Amino acid sequence: MNVLDPRNNHGVAYVDDAYMPVHEARMPLLDRGFVRSDATYDVAHVWKGSFFRLDDHIDRFFSSMHALRMALPHSHEEIAAILIECVRLSGLRDAYVQMTCTRGVPPPSSRDPRDCSNRFYAFATPFVWIANDTQRRDGLPMVLSSVTRIPPESVDPRIKNFHWLDLTMGIFEAYDRQAIVALLHDGHGNVTEGAGFNVFVVKNGVLSSPARGVFEGMTRRTVSELCVLLELPCEFRLVRVLEMLDADEIFLTSTAGGIMPVCLLDGRPVGTGMPGPITALLMSEYWARQEQGWLGTPVTNYPINANGNGACTS
Ligand SMILES: Cc1ncc(COP(=O)(O)O)c(C=O)c1O
Repeated sequence: MNVLDPRNNHGVAYVDDAYMPVHEARMPLLDRGFVRSDATYDVAHVWKGSFFRLDDHIDRFFSSMHALRMALPHSHEEIAAILIECVRLSGLRDAYVQMTCTRGVPPPSSRDPRDCSNRFYAFATPFVWIANDTQRRDGLPMVLSSVTRIPPESVDPRIKNFHWLDLTMGIFEAYDRQAIVALLHDGHGNVTEGAGFNVFVVKNGVLSSPARGVFEGMTRRTVSELCVLLELPCEFRLVRVLEMLDADEIFLTSTAGGIMPVCLLDGRPVGTGMPGPITALLMSEYWARQEQGWLGTPVTNYPINANGNGACTS
């Protein structure tokens, strides 16, 4: 492909052993990933030209594939090289990078998943943010959703999956109720997570995040590691819905935006109604350490004169 093609700046995909502008990428209609949500994926991000926790994301991707009885011919190192190449070709310095494994296309008339060859897709697009600049600075309005998260006994949320309809209906509910995000419950009085994010609650200086019924997010893991470094008490445990109403601080974690304060819950201020000191400290540490190369994998040899936000010669 032409590395200076401006169409690359909207993103670059890798499908069937070839790189292409993301809007030209196609998948077979009969892939069970599309018709049965029979797929797993992982999302890493690139910030200022460097992947964050690339190897951890790929390790998690392999664990998810293993749990779903999927396998690809690619090694960890080959997948890393493909993802880096997608970003390099796109020229993007800040990017959202997805790797996906689908069950694949069954032979005619077969509905046996064992008959499929699993397929690999990857793409890098411009960074995706759950919340805009103002919301990340001042806090997001969130609602406690009426939707119950799919129970972990049915679909294990630790395997990153395409079963998003509960989360998507939560997004609609948030907008209907003048909020931006919705936090789903587990049907037993505990909170879980929302569309693309984990949640933390802070009370009397102690951080807590749901231990069960959630995807074990990379940003959630990063927060728990930052807490060790900063000597902040942090625990993963059941978090009751009622605890949210009495929180000093609440924040969300996601690859799509990092650490994001919540300022309103069901229309009522959280704490002072402004981002609290622990949230602010973690936000600043999260970005500052990445910019210093913490757990980073730099993307090198960007095309000279690339037109995207990646215009860079390093
Ligand atoms: C359901 C769900 N929970 C939590 C997260 C946050 O995970 P991470 O921090 O790895 O982005 C995601 C990310 O997409 C998600 O889909």
